[in-house]
Amino acid sequence: MARHYYIETMGCQMNEYDSDHLGRIFEDSGYLATSEPEEADFVLVNTCSVRAKAEQKALSRLGRLVALKKKNPRLLVAVAGCVAQQRGTDLLARFPSLDLVLGPREIGRFRDILRKIENDGTRLAAVDVHRAPTAFMGRFEYFQNSVKAYLTIMEGCNNFCSYCIVPYVRGRETSRSPHEILEEARNLVLQGVREITLVGQNVNSYVYEKTRFPELLQAMNKIKTLHRMRFTTSHPKDLSEELIQCFAGLEKLCPHIHLPFQAGSNAVLKAMKRGYTREKYMDLIRELREARPGIAVTSDVMVGFPGESEEDFELTLDLIRQIEFDNLFSFKYSDREGTPAARMKGKIPENQKLTRLARLQELQRGITLKKNKELVGKSIKVLVEGTSKKGQQLTGRTDTNKVVNFISDSSNINRLVNVKVKRSLFNSLWGELT
Ligand code: 5AD
Ligand code: SF4
Repeated sequence: MARHYYIETMGCQMNEYDSDHLGRIFEDSGYLATSEPEEADFVLVNTCSVRAKAEQKALSRLGRLVALKKKNPRLLVAVAGCVAQQRGTDLLARFPSLDLVLGPREIGRFRDILRKIENDGTRLAAVDVHRAPTAFMGRFEYFQNSVKAYLTIMEGCNNFCSYCIVPYVRGRETSRSPHEILEEARNLVLQGVREITLVGQNVNSYVYEKTRFPELLQAMNKIKTLHRMRFTTSHPKDLSEELIQCFAGLEKLCPHIHLPFQAGSNAVLKAMKRGYTREKYMDLIRELREARPGIAVTSDVMVGFPGESEEDFELTLDLIRQIEFDNLFSFKYSDREGTPAARMKGKIPENQKLTRLARLQELQRGITLKKNKELVGKSIKVLVEGTSKKGQQLTGRTDTNKVVNFISDSSNINRLVNVKVKRSLFNSLWGELT
């Protein structure tokens, strides 16, 4: 009987990409995918540790998956991703029947590791963070039927923002060769993918020999049947003039940028070691809006960084009011072990963080609603991804990355269609085909 694998993915797009890659290795090794962990012979959870809450969620999920071994003692269980990297062998001690701890930079070795733990029942932690990133595997059929795909172009981060665990768990910046990236992109397009999101912790500092990120985008723009490209995540400190001009000159580059600002106060930005000021950030947004009028801007922000005063927080609100983000991902600061911020004085009490977060989210809610409302009555292009959660409707995204639902038969899935917006909600728009 065929063996089955089950993968659960938490965290960012890098993890999504890595999970696809792990899935390919499972399939090459004779496994079939299943969406039920109870039916699997091998379960793997790909984890995130960027915030305390994400790590807790990962550990509790891992506990539940390991418990499946009680019913099925031959089941193999692995933990991958950033929690695996950070906790390493501690996880083998904490979960005595866990079989494998696999760091993100070890994925290239997974084929051999899989064989080893299948054959001789070894329990191991593979967590060398200095390895080169995973190489492209040249499989054609994997993304079939999907109109969108992620493509990892670089890994790791050299910035060491004082709150951030990423440089410790993903290692230093390493970029893949443009040749390999373009070959992978062309393969995706051949399979029917029409939108590619280039991903990396800090794509702006992509560099491979003489090729920098704007040149990579220019080369991607020449791929004929690719309709759309996006990238994430950018760091304001590394957003060059050349990159801003890509939004003016490259027609396939979607008018959307995710540019985390984290805080609106220069004192907090300095303590975070972000390498820019609020004025510089606002200048960048102005330049982006000049280069591509109507560009959607989304961002990440944190409240309650150690030492954040009421005035600092007000400056964050003020920046949000001035910029008017299309969407904002907001978080309460949480200590990450081993980072400089975790050792800082002036920690903000939890209830204060909660109050600030609620105030901030209320402000942004009004802005998002206002922006979505402005689209009512407009006709917009939507790349259709599939049926919506509620069923009976199709769902897709505008080039500005807003979700649009509308009624249509499934023949429009994977196509670019025109939709007239009829109603706007907080998280999505509702329209009719035109
Ligand atoms: N606490 C809270 N939020 C964090 N982020 C990163 N590190 C922390 C932390 N220690 C947020 C940042 C980042 C997003 C992915 O997660 O806003 O952009
Ligand atoms: Fe989470 Fe960062 Fe790891 Fe992605 S790279 S899974 S966001 S900790």
